[in-house]
Amino acid sequence: MKNSRSRIAVIKGDGIGVDVTDATLAVIEAAEKRIGDLALDYEFLDAGAGYFRDHGTDMAPGAEKATESADAIFLGAIGIPTVRHEDGTEIAPHLRLRETFQLYAGVRPVKAYPNAPQRLADERAAGIDLVILRESTEGLFYSAAAHGRSEIVSDDEVRDTLRITRATTEKLHDFAFRLAQKRRERGGQGRVTCVDKANVFRSMAFFRKIFDERAAKFPDVEHSYNYVDAQALDLIRRPWEFDVLVMENMFGDILSDLAGGLVGGMGMAACAEIGDTHGLFQPAHGSAPDITGQDKANPLAAVLSGALMLDYLADRSGLQAHTDAAHLIEAAVQSGFEANRLRPMEFGGDQGTREITRELVTLVEEARP
Ligand code: IPM
Ligand code: MG
Repeated sequence: MKNSRSRIAVIKGDGIGVDVTDATLAVIEAAEKRIGDLALDYEFLDAGAGYFRDHGTDMAPGAEKATESADAIFLGAIGIPTVRHEDGTEIAPHLRLRETFQLYAGVRPVKAYPNAPQRLADERAAGIDLVILRESTEGLFYSAAAHGRSEIVSDDEVRDTLRITRATTEKLHDFAFRLAQKRRERGGQGRVTCVDKANVFRSMAFFRKIFDERAAKFPDVEHSYNYVDAQALDLIRRPWEFDVLVMENMFGDILSDLAGGLVGGMGMAACAEIGDTHGLFQPAHGSAPDITGQDKANPLAAVLSGALMLDYLADRSGLQAHTDAAHLIEAAVQSGFEANRLRPMEFGGDQGTREITRELVTLVEEARP
């Protein structure tokens, strides 16, 4: 373990990506004032759809290299619907970063907070606390336009490939089981559900076969299976019964939005994308052009992604301050909701981005050390 400074590559990106990144950095700074030196150096990088429109590339020269040598990457949001490639797809350098750094483990926590909207009438919905573990480098996204792998058969047919490899899937499932162990240590359920479509696709039967192989190495962790269509149903019918849900990339993209909706909306959807050597942290929401520049965005998904980043850095740096800061920020969000002091406009509340940020900073200042 090294004990030096950590370099964070920061891409604010487009639209509300800028606002929610600023909010996150302000909350981390408040945590630092309470806890002591976090030894973070930020490097701000230009990238996104706006940059592409103005300069013709989706990242500034040198930016990709800078992400490579960083200890972590923080990304606000990227995308402007009117700025597209010729094939009709949107600007997404983020997909390239996932592939370049093999960020296979997309961790998307879904947690119900008190006083945040409960979209399900059943009172057990207050206990929703699960993680969508979305494989983030292959699956159907192997064929994402950004990678240029679609097969354009003719003017009348296009084929995309869903790829499952043993190497990535073993690492993904191991990650799922270790995450479940960690969650159990922290009082969670500690169970893993393999979400697939093994009844129909060879690739998915393969995904499940590897799940079984790896499950055998974690006999202390309970495991089960669910077909992805049934999982969509069960996320409405009994989401409180699930803990870690591990799945292919596209399934995870879709179900993580659904699950985000269960606990309020995308403004709560934090995300960590972790590989063997790199980690990228971003809210799972987009750039929200409809509310850009209006101080309306809910920054909590980004702030919670910042806490995930600190937790990740703690493992690399060995610094207790990183762990403490992550816990402090998570506790501030929890107690803020408990006291009804966090009321995002996203949920019909009266607080814009800046107001929520100020409140979070106060909560961090007030928290017991
Ligand atoms: C997400 C987003 C991205 C994805 C887009 C913006 C490329 O929806 O992080 O879930 O599809 O992975
Ligand atoms: Mg998505």
